[in-house]
Amino acid sequence: MKDILTSRFVEEMRKTTANMYRLGWDERNGGNISYMLDEREVKEYLDVKKVIREIPTGFNAMPLAGKYFIVTGTGKYFKNVDADPETNLGVLRIAADGETAQLLWGFKDGGKFTSEFPSHMMSHIARLKVDPENRVVMHSHPTNLLAMNYVHELDEKKLTHTLWEMCTECIVVFPDGIGVLPWMLCGTNSIGEATAEKMKDFRVVVWALHGVYGAGKSLDETFGLIETVEKAAQIYMLTAHLPRLNTIKDADMVKLAELFKVKYRKDFLNLD
Ligand code: 13P
Ligand code: ZN
Repeated sequence: MKDILTSRFVEEMRKTTANMYRLGWDERNGGNISYMLDEREVKEYLDVKKVIREIPTGFNAMPLAGKYFIVTGTGKYFKNVDADPETNLGVLRIAADGETAQLLWGFKDGGKFTSEFPSHMMSHIARLKVDPENRVVMHSHPTNLLAMNYVHELDEKKLTHTLWEMCTECIVVFPDGIGVLPWMLCGTNSIGEATAEKMKDFRVVVWALHGVYGAGKSLDETFGLIETVEKAAQIYMLTAHLPRLNTIKDADMVKLAELFKVKYRKDFLNLD
């Protein structure tokens, strides 16, 4: 059996959490990640018959039964993942009944998966129906996007349109736009259900006055998605109080979307 600390997935989790921390998106225990793993790859590093602990999921995750995930721990700091992955991360499998997570590695101090586990697992279920290659759900508190929540209308069309206007490539990176949930109590099944409902249509979902969820095929892609939204929010926050002299026109966004052949939310543009 190979050492799991040398695995591609642990390495990627260490690098991604360190980057997110470095960018100031994930203060203290802010943010969480779940990454669905391939059984064959997990078996290279772990005896999958050896369950360390069983942790109740708190909801029915039956559509993910038998699936493996590496997940950040609740109360754990992204800042500390790189130095001590075995305490701050866990590898688990959803049991056949969908009611239990079987811990195979990690959470060494007796910890458990993120309090946002329902939102993560329910989002995986929703995204896999739209994109069978989806593997990652990522939650974060990016500074400028959060700041924007206080000064910009939280309407999906208006927020998406403003962000698309901020960088030329935004419409190409998130052509499906930004879903928005009103402020809700986090760490609950209800916010999980609401997030998953939005994930049917959007790969990016803003939790008003809290943060953002992103979904994608890899850690890199999902990180890049949130990074692009956050960059657009930063340009907005740097310019919102200044007179606007120039902007990217909707007709130009259509040209971009057509050139890059992305399926975009036409109804989020103002075309006549
Ligand atoms: P956890 O520490 O439980 O992952 O929670 C962090 C967070 O961002 C809650 O929304
Ligand atoms: Zn959060």
